[in-house]
Parts: sequence; structure tokens; C-alpha cells
Amino acid sequence: MGLFSKNFLWGSASSAHQVEGGAVNDWSGWEKANAKRLAREAEKKYGHLPSWEQIKDQATNPNNYISGHACEHYRMFREDFDSAQALGHTAHRFSLEWSRIEPVEGRFDETEIAHYREVIKALRARGIEPFVTLWHWTLPVWLAEKDGILNRQFSEYFERYTTKVAKEFGVEICFWITINEPEIYALNSHYRGIWPSQKTGFINFFRATHALNRAHRNAYRVIKKINPNAKIGASLNTSYFESAGGRISNCMKWAVDWLWNMRFLRNIHNELDFVGINYYFHNRIKGFWFNQNENKKISDMGWEIYPEGLYHVLLDLKRFQLPVYITENGVADMNDVFRADFIRDHISEINRAIAEGVDVRGYFYWSLLDNFEWDKGFWPRFGLIEVDYETQKRKIRPSAFEYKKIIEESAIKP
Ligand code: FCB
Repeated sequence: MGLFSKNFLWGSASSAHQVEGGAVNDWSGWEKANAKRLAREAEKKYGHLPSWEQIKDQATNPNNYISGHACEHYRMFREDFDSAQALGHTAHRFSLEWSRIEPVEGRFDETEIAHYREVIKALRARGIEPFVTLWHWTLPVWLAEKDGILNRQFSEYFERYTTKVAKEFGVEICFWITINEPEIYALNSHYRGIWPSQKTGFINFFRATHALNRAHRNAYRVIKKINPNAKIGASLNTSYFESAGGRISNCMKWAVDWLWNMRFLRNIHNELDFVGINYYFHNRIKGFWFNQNENKKISDMGWEIYPEGLYHVLLDLKRFQLPVYITENGVADMNDVFRADFIRDHISEINRAIAEGVDVRGYFYWSLLDNFEWDKGFWPRFGLIEVDYETQKRKIRPSAFEYKKIIEESAIKP
């Protein structure tokens, strides 16, 4: 693993809604309205998973689908960052919760801004570089009530919020991520209709991605104006699409690569200082059929574990000639049986890509803590640190120490 420079950043990622607790936003409302339904549908959705026996009590309980106190990270961030530091992390990605900062349209809450200033300070005090995500999917209620990201003025609202936080934190923060996974959000919220605001169809999908493109561009411009030295990126969900061979599969691969992996990047690459990628999925295409994967290893959620795909995804990004950060990569593994190998294997694929000239500069494991996994709730366990949601006690998983060893072995000491 010798190719990682001493400046390579190692850490983990999180998002406000999934860890903080006490959220009042479009998701928290949606959760309450949909918890019973989600619990009822659990067996149909997850009953086939090998993990079902272990997850079923949680997955069929409506409380599982309500983020509520989450990990109380809002209150416990200092001790969580103590753990990150003890685990050798040199960077941490987290998101600002827009609904806290601007709970009422046009009115900013200075107490919440002070809170995030403390969060940044706590990271810096531990020698951990903050990567700040401006938007990780949750909207203030006032904006959700006006059609959310489809509101014609969405990019202006986003710009106003960005201007405020960039003015507040512009000098303290070097790395900004404007938007998390615009493709996944647009797909689930505006095409499949399974997340708030439950819109469906291609037109809504394209309108959503268009709105997020614009929001990114505006935010980029605003932050640069305030701090020309800031490094600004977006976190994209890039999948490895593999063709099983043959003309149809090849064409399909080409088309989805273009539509899913490249479209957003092509649209915004002039307004990017780095590319953030979140890698979770391999998708093998056979003829017109997607997901013809061998699934030799799967996570508790049934997602295939396929480290090699990360190498391919990274090589595809070479053409953009931009630094790359893996802003998310992780596995739901409650028994901690796959996680250590998962991390090691993905990092060695990153190493392979670096050897071939891809400028990868950091890796963020998803996630530091077990957390609230959107419409699936609390049963998926992604954390390097296990959370007991009853007591809020944390327990570091063995794989977290393995990751620590990797960090120590890989960083070339000055
Ligand atoms: C990503 C999301 C992140 C988390 C992981 C498992 O798509 O960005 O919030 O839910 O998946």
C-alpha cells in the first residue's frame, strides 16, 4: 500500500440527519407519516436476505423508521471525534443541517451556526481536517412546502444559505462538498417516489438533476468569491457498470455510464476543484438486464461487495484531470465479519488506480457511527463504532482498529 503520500487524508463520513438527532425537516415529518407502512413492507423487501432472522425484529418495528434521537451526535460530537482521533483519522466529512441554520425562510439561527463552529473547532483541535457537505438530502420544512428542489427559485435559496455559511466559515474550511449524490436523490425522490417528496417519472427526474446542477454551480461561485483558496467539489454516486460481453450489453453499459456516471460530471466539471465519489455498487449488465451480478459476497443489506469496481470507476475519472476523494465507501455489517477486509480491499484498489495515474487524495469510510439509514431506518449497521440506541453507548468495532493499522502502514511518515 505504499503509494499513499503523507498528505493523503484518511477518515470517515457522516451526514447530519443520520446522526445528530432532533431533526425538524422534511424527512422527520415523512418518517412519522410512513413508519407504519415501512414496517409492514419490511418482510416483502428484506425477507429474502440472509440477515433477515437477525434484523426482522427491528425492521418490522415502526420505531425503526423514525430518526428521533438518532446517535445524539449533536450532543456527543466531541467524544465521537475523540474516537476518530484515537483511530488515526486525519479527516472527517460531515454535513450542515440546512433546517437548523435556516429554520424559517430567510432567517438564520445564530445558535446553530455557533454549534457548527464548535464542531469545526473540535475537529481541528484533534488534527482532523473538516470536509463540509452543504446539502445531504434534507430540506427545511418551509422549502419542502414550496416544492423543494423543484421550486423555480431553489438555486437562489441554496445560494443564500451557502453565502451565509461561507461567510461564517469561509476561512476555517478548506474543503467543501456542495451536494451529496444528486443522482441517487433525484432517482429515489423524483423518479421512483420512495423518498420525500415522493415524485415520480422521467420529467421530474430530469428537472431534479437540472435543479441540483444549477445549485452546485451557484454555490461554487459564491464560495470561491468569499474564499478563492477553498477547494470545492460534489459527492457523486458512481457505480461500476460492467458489460457481460456482446453488442447489446456493451451499448447498454455505454449508455448508463453516460447517463449515471458522467452526465452530472460533464455538466459541472468546470465548477469543480475535485471530484468526490461515493462507491457502493457494481452493476453487471447482460443484454437489457441490469444487476446480473454474481453476488459472491453481500452485505447485510444484500448489496454486493465488489472492491475491483472502485478501480474501474477511478480510471474512468482520469479524463477529467481533477483530484479525487472517495467521500464514501462502506458496508452494512452488524457482525463485523466483512468490514476489515472490505476496507483493506477497497484501499488496495485505490492504490492500483493511483499507480496508474489517478490523483486520489483521500478516503472516507462510511461511516464513523452506526446511523439512521434513510427509508431503511436503524437496522443497517455501517459504523466503525457500534451504537446502542437505547443507552447511546458507543463500542469501537475490531475492524476500526484494522483500519487504523492500514492508515498507519500506508501513510508515509514525514
Ligand atoms: C449513500 C448516502 C449515505 C448513506 C450511504 C449508505 O448513498 O450518501 O447517506 O446512506 O449511502
